[in-house]
Amino acid sequence: RNQIFKLSTGSTDFDKLLEGGIESMAITEVFGESGSGKTQLSHTLCVTAQMPGPNGYNGGKVIFIDTEHTFRTDRLRSIADRFNLDRNGVLENILYARAYTSDHQYQLLKNVGEMLHREAGVFKLLIVDSIISHFRVDYYGRKEMAHRQHRLGQLMARLHKISEEYNIAVFITNQIMSDLNNLEQSDPQRPVGGNILAHASTTRISLRKVLNGKRIAKVYASPNLADSEVAFTITSGGIDN
Ligand code: GTP
Ligand code: MG
Repeated sequence: RNQIFKLSTGSTDFDKLLEGGIESMAITEVFGESGSGKTQLSHTLCVTAQMPGPNGYNGGKVIFIDTEHTFRTDRLRSIADRFNLDRNGVLENILYARAYTSDHQYQLLKNVGEMLHREAGVFKLLIVDSIISHFRVDYYGRKEMAHRQHRLGQLMARLHKISEEYNIAVFITNQIMSDLNNLEQSDPQRPVGGNILAHASTTRISLRKVLNGKRIAKVYASPNLADSEVAFTITSGGIDN
């Protein structure tokens, strides 16, 4: 029952990069520039998590915590069509919550923990898109940084507990630093969130846009994955080859 499972990204190459997909009992973080595909990947996972997979995985329900108001049921319908799933069934299996502030986001995760305790085994994926946006607004400037990181650390600890206690894949999106150096194309993008996120995320993947509409996913930090990169595309059916 507590066997680790992996959820497909929708792209075979991306899945290979992850040695199967987004893993349960772990936190997977993707970061990247605006339009790099973080939210589209979140939506695709909402659907693939509901489908049976390798190693006896039967599919399960999804919790989506939305901080940027970018959740789109239309997109979920078109991804459901791609995988020949019932549109309404797919939507009904997603528990959606909008987080309005960083404190609210933290409180929502507390509620999620309590709900998972009551309904063990039903939910397989927890998405937070994005983990950091409210924190960047609510704790602004250098003076607030220690406090922000402390609160972010508490939030990440809560996510860890959820992923391990209930065998859930936790998927979070993160933003990148927008300093001048980073605008140079030769300079790789760097995630925000400092040491707290660096240590809390099990696997960190960077996403970026390249010419001809393609996207690149690259392993940024991982305890076991090779340091390589793959190309993928975004379609109306979600993340694809
Ligand atoms: P931020 O939240 O702004 O940081 O960006 P993000 O990384 O979440 O980007 P998101 O996942 O929202 O990707 C948006 C991009 O996906 C758009 O700019 C389009 O290029 C692409 N996209 C979205 N829908 C479609 C679609 O139906 N077809 C195609 N071909 N591309 C799409
Ligand atoms: Mg987004």
